[in-house]
Amino acid sequence: MQPPGHFPPDFLWGAATAAYQIEGAAHEDGRGESIWDRFCRVPGNVRNQDNGDIACDFYHRYRDDIRLMRDLGLNAFRFSIAWPRVLPNGRGPVNERGLDFYDRLVDALLAANIRPFVTLYHWDLPQALEDAGRPSGGWLNRATVDAFAELADVVVRRLGDRVHDWTTHNEPWVVAWMGYGQGQHAPGKTGDQNALTTAHHLMLSHGRAVEVIRGRSSGARVGITLNLTPTYPATDSPEDRTAARLADGQANRWFLDPIFRGAYPEDMLAAFDQSLPPIEDGDLALISTPIDFLGINNYFRSVVGAGPDRSSIVHHRPEGSTYTDMDWEVYPSSLCDLLARVHRDYAPKCVYITENGAAFPDVRMHDGSVPDPERRSYLERYIQAVGRAIAEGVPVGGYFVWSLMDNFEWSFGYWKRFGIIYVDFSTLERVPKSSYYWYRDFVARQRQLVAAGGNGFTYITKHGGTRT
Ligand code: FCB
Repeated sequence: MQPPGHFPPDFLWGAATAAYQIEGAAHEDGRGESIWDRFCRVPGNVRNQDNGDIACDFYHRYRDDIRLMRDLGLNAFRFSIAWPRVLPNGRGPVNERGLDFYDRLVDALLAANIRPFVTLYHWDLPQALEDAGRPSGGWLNRATVDAFAELADVVVRRLGDRVHDWTTHNEPWVVAWMGYGQGQHAPGKTGDQNALTTAHHLMLSHGRAVEVIRGRSSGARVGITLNLTPTYPATDSPEDRTAARLADGQANRWFLDPIFRGAYPEDMLAAFDQSLPPIEDGDLALISTPIDFLGINNYFRSVVGAGPDRSSIVHHRPEGSTYTDMDWEVYPSSLCDLLARVHRDYAPKCVYITENGAAFPDVRMHDGSVPDPERRSYLERYIQAVGRAIAEGVPVGGYFVWSLMDNFEWSFGYWKRFGIIYVDFSTLERVPKSSYYWYRDFVARQRQLVAAGGNGFTYITKHGGTRT
């Protein structure tokens, strides 16, 4: 094993969550309906017809959960704002009671010395916005960009004096392709053109929100979280390499290029020729408004080859690998490769791993414990890969494990468990898993190394300088 200690002293050790997956209290204190509330009610959309009405009941139990975070030794917590809690109709009248919740949450985190990392959009669009402009409502409607700017304004005005780290969107690829392109996620729409229009509007709204947040809070650091998939050709053949390049274009470059280079990639414009979104003058300048950090979510890699007709791509499932309960391949070195590549090609000022983790079918033993050695090993190896990337000069500022606790895993309902804390969904009791204790001890050891005078290691700080 690589020796520990490859992490800067100001490195953030965090855990991540999202509003709809944990909060519950779906009908309380004036919260409006979201597209996920609606989507969950349609039989066949979500396993077991589960929904987020109660979820982990974080809305009422956040103080206990913050105690668990503090005992763990976290110094950062990533959570998202439920848009319909704050603007029940998507825009217009503000629901102060919804904002009050985030106010209390932020204060409680700060009192525990935990830095709040706030995501403005983690998929729970107000249903009212989806209904407006039907059938081209929600993110298909360019007016939703203005609504998102309004959300950013309202939230930053209330929390911007205490929250300094803002993420506009979580995983626009997933929203676009799974929500509007393939239909496995809310609002369940389909079609390539819909996916690409959604993606374009999400990116535009990101640019707008960056401006709004900076305008309202001078000390703010603003970024976006992308799910990036390190993509490898199945063989060295020219056909497989072309297929891998195409898959990389769809998953990664379509989002990275406009943000960091102000242009969609040429080869992908050609590939998507028949379904291009409506791009207006000035859009790409707005999308490429400079950001302070890039959030990266990564769980697996992708191995891709050419299909039989050579124009399609085929995803391979490497034999002999270990797979998680999501059937995602465990391949830690791909995270190091991904970080090195993003650094080389796009050079973000700072990177955070805003999600990384694994689902396994955990069970509670008779003595009450929840042993999860596979998750522990997954986290340990992926964190080592982050350490290697830092050693190669990638300015990684923090790591957030997905997730703090088991929660509502979208179309999989409560079936897939990603938490380092087990949740008994019949009683809502929380039970730290063995990976929680491992992470606690690991983070404590990192702090000891820092206190002992650093690790004799030169790394690049998030402000671009170097320090030993
Ligand atoms: C990511 C999502 C997050 C969670 C994990 C497992 O795509 O951002 O909400 O569902 O996957």
